[in-house]
Amino acid sequence: MTKKLFVKTYGCQMNAYDSARMADVLAPIGFVGVDSAADADLVILNTCHIREKAAEKLYSDLGRLAILKQAKAQNGEALMVAVAGCVAQAEGAEIAARAACVDLVVGPQTYHRLPELVAQAEADGAAVIATEFLSDSKFDALPPAAASGVSAFLTVQEGCDRFCTFCVVPYTRGPEFSRPVAAVVREATDLVAAGAREIVLLGQNVNAYHGAGARGASLSLARLIETVAAIPALERIRYTTSHPRDMGDDLIAAHGAIAKLMPYVHLPVQSGSDRVLAAMNRRHRVDDYFDVVARLRAARPDVALSSDFIVGFPGESDADFDATLALVRAVGFASAFSFKYSARPGTPAADAPDQIPETVKDQRLAALQGALRTQQHGFNAATVGRGLPVLFEAAGRHPGQLVGRSPYLQPVHVAAPTSLLGTVAQVHIDAALPNSLAGRLDQTNRPDVQAA
Ligand code: SAH
Ligand code: SF4
Ligand code: F3S
Repeated sequence: MTKKLFVKTYGCQMNAYDSARMADVLAPIGFVGVDSAADADLVILNTCHIREKAAEKLYSDLGRLAILKQAKAQNGEALMVAVAGCVAQAEGAEIAARAACVDLVVGPQTYHRLPELVAQAEADGAAVIATEFLSDSKFDALPPAAASGVSAFLTVQEGCDRFCTFCVVPYTRGPEFSRPVAAVVREATDLVAAGAREIVLLGQNVNAYHGAGARGASLSLARLIETVAAIPALERIRYTTSHPRDMGDDLIAAHGAIAKLMPYVHLPVQSGSDRVLAAMNRRHRVDDYFDVVARLRAARPDVALSSDFIVGFPGESDADFDATLALVRAVGFASAFSFKYSARPGTPAADAPDQIPETVKDQRLAALQGALRTQQHGFNAATVGRGLPVLFEAAGRHPGQLVGRSPYLQPVHVAAPTSLLGTVAQVHIDAALPNSLAGRLDQTNRPDVQAA
């Protein structure tokens, strides 16, 4: 009998990957995906714990699900509610204690056991909690990756040993772990067979990747990219998120050598002040960051950079914040994410005495985002009049339109036939909007012209 599954994803790309894998795990026992909780027999909330706001969203959603569950029960229908992801890992049984509608709490390292956990939750009256870090890898237990879009995520490295003083990830995802090269290549091949033309290699600290190769010795991310690039129908490779300290020479060189590796690097810096970087335990200085950027640009002059920033870290002075603005001006980012520091329970910085008032954080965030927005607009505007190869990923907002991505990750809207979905075509960029580009197919894409 088919049962209906609705998964809601919060947080980072790795959660998006995990959500897809949870659907893969549940498919063999009859679950098919639906688009709303109201239509579902099982709702999974795949949660994020990175900032307080992200975690609080869970409880507002659970409030709504409790009402839905009650309404369904009155019609004689059952609704199972599962909480997965990083809040599940961090709060475990507390979630079920706080929200009675929760039947199952499953952590990021246990979701391959969902079929058995769902059966157990159906049989038991009480909520089932599964948040242990198992010694056997969940990746070995997952079925082959099924459906895929044109661009697909693939987790190659998980967990983190860096312990930045603001961050929950080492606690919610556990110690750093790299998947063996063969397992990654197998999954990449499955994804390409299912239609993927771009693969985004994921890890919390992806450039620290050191998975076992065929002869047992560990391979770097650069070598992994080289291996994955050999899959013929694969057009593009990206990777995220990188730590500045782990930007090795071979990875930088790969940007100049591997055509399928896109010229875009997400390289979070967090702050432009050495004092704050030290307090964050980032273990690199501002000059180290400039050095990595210079080496990347030497290897691949058109490389686009993006970053993450935190404003209002405990003890951040006006001068520290000005140093962050100076770093932004010096580097020039194609896009970036910036956040107000959020004190997370159990992390060292949460107990620091010199917490910054919310109003100061608001002012700094507005100033930083203004500067970053200007850079992003400038970066987009500079592509107008150029020809860029675009990988078409989906139907656009208007009929007859497709949307794809430039090498620099900019969404590009183009009037194009659906036959071009999943292909790379040359596009002439006509206009830059704040967050996207508009263009038209280059004449060279016309088969008659190409044949000539
Ligand atoms: N592994 C990545 C980042 C993972 S979390 C790295 O090493 O950079 C994604 C981003 O969330 C971080 O880069 C940081 O900018 C932000 N972030 C993490 N913890 C935060 C906190 N406590 N408050 C505000 N932002 C935070
Ligand atoms: Fe968190 Fe990234 Fe630091 Fe790891 S390296 S602790 S994931 S911010
Ligand atoms: Fe959030 Fe966990 Fe990702 S805390 S950012 S979902 S690793």
